[in-house]
Amino acid sequence: MGLDDLRTLARGAAAHSRARYSSEPRGSIALLSDGAWVPGIRLESASLSLVVPASTAAIAAAVAAGRRDIVAVALSDAARPEDIAFLAEVPTGPLRSVHSSIFARDDVLPVVGPMLPLATPVPTGFTPAHGVALAAATARRSLVPYSSFPVGCVLQTSSGNLIAGTNVEHRDWTRTICAERSALVAALSLGLSDITAVFVACLEDPDASPCGACRQLLAEWAPEATVWMHRGAGSPDAHSTAQLLPSCFSGRTLRRPKH
Ligand code: THU
Repeated sequence: MGLDDLRTLARGAAAHSRARYSSEPRGSIALLSDGAWVPGIRLESASLSLVVPASTAAIAAAVAAGRRDIVAVALSDAARPEDIAFLAEVPTGPLRSVHSSIFARDDVLPVVGPMLPLATPVPTGFTPAHGVALAAATARRSLVPYSSFPVGCVLQTSSGNLIAGTNVEHRDWTRTICAERSALVAALSLGLSDITAVFVACLEDPDASPCGACRQLLAEWAPEATVWMHRGAGSPDAHSTAQLLPSCFSGRTLRRPKH
């Protein structure tokens, strides 16, 4: 497997990047030890610092899929500072820079295989109770060495897909990604944006609800969704994204950049 092939896959992922403000769409892939790979995109936010780097998105998607055996990360373009900082201490284990846009664990990389399937079809008779139960099961895949606070999230789309996310913590706490944003960026990386429901489970806190950063990203990228919270043995709680973040700054009226 050549480095060029990895970059080609990362460039393919960049096609789904949501980079409205910078006009610099970026993608990445995380290559797994058996050659399977997962995509990630740069997801921008009207709330500036909440931008999700493409490298973070790919690592989080792999972890949420139950895979931590990441042997390389390829970026569509030369690594940006946020990618370099994230990849300097990748939560899944060290990678070193082997090219301006490739970070790898070993000298020899596996032969590239298929993309790992990240979306599953919504089963017949699927209810919010099933959704939060699935989110609770997904939380068990979280990578939470610093908080021991596992969170799982599952998104449902009107096109009939379920996409999972978990929190993935970074030694630089500001680079940690929550379960909700992990699921959101995974769905968008697949080109799935028609999100109708968000199911969240915080295993350690039956009263928890999404953090401010996730509320902002959900308001921007899943404005029509209902957010269902796992409440243990009780029935799940439902809120609209507008209820979770009233009068939010959507960025919709910003002009496109002139450059
Ligand atoms: N966390 C989430 O995954 N979602 C939230 O909405 C709240 C917080 C994660 C982030 C971090 O890994 C841990 O929970 C503690 O903040």
